Amino acid sequence: MKRRAWFRSSLVVGTLAVVAVCGCSRVHKKAPVLHATAAGSALVVSSGDRQLAPSGSPLPQPLIMQVNDNQGNGVTGALVKFSVPAGVKIDPAEALSDSNGEVTANVTLGNTSGRYVLTAMAWNKAGHPISVQVPELAAGYQEELGYQVQRKYCSRCHDPESTPEQVSNHDNLAVPPHSFDQGATYNKLSDADLTAIIGHGGPALNLSALMPPYGSTLTKADIQAVIAYIRLVSDPPYQAPGLVYAKQ
Ligand code: HEC
Repeated sequence: MKRRAWFRSSLVVGTLAVVAVCGCSRVHKKAPVLHATAAGSALVVSSGDRQLAPSGSPLPQPLIMQVNDNQGNGVTGALVKFSVPAGVKIDPAEALSDSNGEVTANVTLGNTSGRYVLTAMAWNKAGHPISVQVPELAAGYQEELGYQVQRKYCSRCHDPESTPEQVSNHDNLAVPPHSFDQGATYNKLSDADLTAIIGHGGPALNLSALMPPYGSTLTKADIQAVIAYIRLVSDPPYQAPGLVYAKQ
């Protein structure tokens, strides 16, 4: 309903502007107003959430949202608007869904490392907003180093997904390790626990010796970097003990 009211008042303003025939340079060039021709009943992330990129840089893949009807089919012509935290850029900030029900946007992360939560919004037939939160991850220097280190030394066992460059060994292990984004496991481990297990291997925490020791392969800085990476990608997010984060 709010939108309707806004629309009405913009009509009034528009009419006044015409009556006044001001021609004044103060009038801002308006972005084209998008008119939704349809409404869905659900908004979902099609792809592109939880991406990791260096802070201040564009995400490697676009964010694709999809507006669906109550059968799960894409709806064409529905309005999707994004709102983003300070420092994040999104293009376009609003669009109508295409023939697949999709809206595609390019995202550039803010300069500070951490977790950025974007909001995508659509409206159902009753005019009620449906919003979806989309987290994206900005890696600073340390997290980026941690990402590289874990790709080189850890992901072949810890990442269950195989890629063309790396076949995962995860499913062959008698005791399957967790992928580093599994906050349910990792958030319970302190930095000291992580340092011990990475440096001395699984037995340091009474875990399997299939987890090798890296104390003589990795430097202290490398291990700290991997821990910073693990904290960044954790889902649900990691809350450092004793720190209260401002809600975004
Ligand atoms: C050869 C396979 C292998 C490699 C490589 C490997 N790990 Fe593991 N890791 C394991 C296994 C197996 C476990 C599970 C042990 C258990 O639960 O008893 C494990 C467990 C862990 C745990 C405890 C939490 C969990 O996932 O269960 C941490 C932390 C960990 N590994 C960190 C690392 C880091 C960091 C690296 C790279 C520097 C690494 N691992 C490389 C096999 C591996």
